[in-house]
Amino acid sequence: MKPKVAVTNVFPDIALEKLKTRCEIRYNESGRSLTADELAENAEWADVLVTYLSDKIDAAIISRAKQLKLIANYGAGFNNIDVAAAREKNIWVTNTPGVLHETTADLTWAMILGLARQIVPADQYTREGKFRGWGAKLFLGTDVYGKTLGVIGCGEIGKAVARRALGFNMQVLYHQRDQLPLEQEKALNAKFVDLNTLLQDSDYVTLHVPLTEYTKYMIGALEIEMMKPSAYLIHTARGKVVDDKALVEALKKGRLAGAALDVFEDEPELTEGMAELDNILILPHIGSASTETRDTMALLVADNVFDALDGNRPRTLVPGWEEKAT
Ligand code: DGY
Repeated sequence: MKPKVAVTNVFPDIALEKLKTRCEIRYNESGRSLTADELAENAEWADVLVTYLSDKIDAAIISRAKQLKLIANYGAGFNNIDVAAAREKNIWVTNTPGVLHETTADLTWAMILGLARQIVPADQYTREGKFRGWGAKLFLGTDVYGKTLGVIGCGEIGKAVARRALGFNMQVLYHQRDQLPLEQEKALNAKFVDLNTLLQDSDYVTLHVPLTEYTKYMIGALEIEMMKPSAYLIHTARGKVVDDKALVEALKKGRLAGAALDVFEDEPELTEGMAELDNILILPHIGSASTETRDTMALLVADNVFDALDGNRPRTLVPGWEEKAT
């Protein structure tokens, strides 16, 4: 009998085909997120559950598992899974680190440049036939070259964002729990500072922390108040790192020059008033959305599935799983 793999949502063909060579697949290709009941039913049926970061895999769902060996999350973040509850039942949890940071850094830069030069409104204006000829004040933006970039969370993605800033001759400040090794700081030309200094001194503040109990709402009204009124906030991390209501209020009052969000507090819902703002760029969580990267992520999921089915420790167990195992 083939092992059973439940794939909870749309998944790249290249990895599905790979899984099909060894497994019976139950595949939700509808594009609709499964309900909690449906997820539980899949957890009960499967040897491996392949999940989206929008699937909330909590203790109640995990308790329904019978022979589940692995929950393989299709994404680098894994705050949607109760890792402790999975560990209790000896169910491995994996994610897809190391393969999406360059793509997410590219998008972060698209957002920085898009905000600074009003790319989306300018495109809209031109399409609408409003362009009547060159104008000295038409869509005046602000420079990126030579400005100060504040990177909050200098892990894989934060570093890839900072590396790109070298080409823009920016001063890079970063903040996280631990200082980077000196040679890494040197290579990135980045300076370790406390959060307040970063917020006060940066022209562009970009967020790259995972969502944890420490980072939840780390950017709220007080932190926004510390930023320069001419500064921009760029957010590609996890929605709840920012208090979206406070951000909408600040943008309404012109307290910040603008913000670009790829993730939202109550994703996929937008916070009231957000869509009406004209100093915001809003994207539908597409940080890792290049064909190459989404395929690579999916193939890494398949590798983890095969590791687990072969009885080997999967190659990208989430941080925190192992410590609890000892
Ligand atoms: C992740 O992997 O956590 C990303 O947000 C997906 O785009």
